[in-house]
Amino acid sequence: MLDISNLSKLDKARIFEVGVRNPNLRTFDISLTTDRGTTYNSYLLLGNKNVLIDGVRADFAEEQISNIKKVIDPRKIDYILLNHTEPDHAGSIASILDIAPNAKILSSRCANIFIKEIIHREFKWEEATEGFSIDLGWDSLSMISAPLLHWPDTIMSYLKKSKILFSCDAFGAHYCPDDMLNTSPSQIRSYMLYYADNIIRPFKSKVRSALGKLDNMEISGIAPSHGPIHSNTKEIIDLYTEWSKKPSVGDSVRILIAYCSTYGYTEKMAEMIKTKLTSLGATVVIKEIIEENIHDIRTELELSQGLLIGTPTIAGDAPDPAWRICSLFHTVEKGIKLASVFGSFGWSGEACELIKHRLEGLKVPTIQHLKVRFLPNQDSTEKIEAFAEGFYNTLADKTPKTATQHSA
Ligand code: FEO
Repeated sequence: MLDISNLSKLDKARIFEVGVRNPNLRTFDISLTTDRGTTYNSYLLLGNKNVLIDGVRADFAEEQISNIKKVIDPRKIDYILLNHTEPDHAGSIASILDIAPNAKILSSRCANIFIKEIIHREFKWEEATEGFSIDLGWDSLSMISAPLLHWPDTIMSYLKKSKILFSCDAFGAHYCPDDMLNTSPSQIRSYMLYYADNIIRPFKSKVRSALGKLDNMEISGIAPSHGPIHSNTKEIIDLYTEWSKKPSVGDSVRILIAYCSTYGYTEKMAEMIKTKLTSLGATVVIKEIIEENIHDIRTELELSQGLLIGTPTIAGDAPDPAWRICSLFHTVEKGIKLASVFGSFGWSGEACELIKHRLEGLKVPTIQHLKVRFLPNQDSTEKIEAFAEGFYNTLADKTPKTATQHSA
């Protein structure tokens, strides 16, 4: 439990952080590395109405409840405001309702649907529509709708006089600080970027919408759902403005060729395809799928309209790097309008079909793949160039004219 009232220079203890620290966590949500652990932040506002903002993971419910009890008798909680219902913040709500029977859940309508399936019981509920406000006496807490930042049910909330934004996952970091209130942006910048890159990045347009709403608001404190609470708010908002910028697209059709190659045969196909596409007027970025290139490949997935994955077949399957590209799709704001697959094979050549099916499962339009047995030679050139040309022409038809003005 931490009194954070001085964040808004209050003369009385009215704002508390009652969440949980988890400094030893090393993996979050199955795949994110957390070498500084994380925190599950929850805030308690005292006043005419007592408002608890968010819960924590279910396995930390007892610790959160203990923190709440250090501040207030839970029976006096009037509202439990859910900024969103992801279970790292909603998991403890059932346990809290056990000891806070008078509390009404306040959330978006979408969150109401989700929370029913998380707590499986009757509960009092009120919709947190945009601008809905709770009068605390010394301040008022108003709601800001922010769907898909990063869940469909997301809202933020704002203490008007105190100028504190409770921002849900936005502006957060998986970083368990020594000091929740005095961690500088430079200290956690890389952690915030990693977090934004992995959690917020696919919803960049929603970040831009949310930042637009914050534009005319004075914000002296940002209280996110993970990591330190920010008082250098301009610096923090500037970071998100930078990270959520719309990618600038050039004038020509842009195509990413991402390939892996065991003996250089698929690589040779990639180079031949690149040469043909370039001759047609496309901007082609070619990347071998290795860990060092993954950051650039993600960026290219946002900048490019076309994607060609090159993969050999190994023992009847595509190797991990080819699947890795498919797994990046949910982590970026997608710009890909057309994709296909090519590759060299020796015995049976299943990889291209498998990766193409995966792309189709991701709802990416595709054209027929191309596979060549072993080393492509002069006989293969015609097929490879026809494949590249067919891909280019189909993509050009799907791409606004401003991006094809150099085409032949
Ligand atoms: Fe930290 Fe979207 O949950």
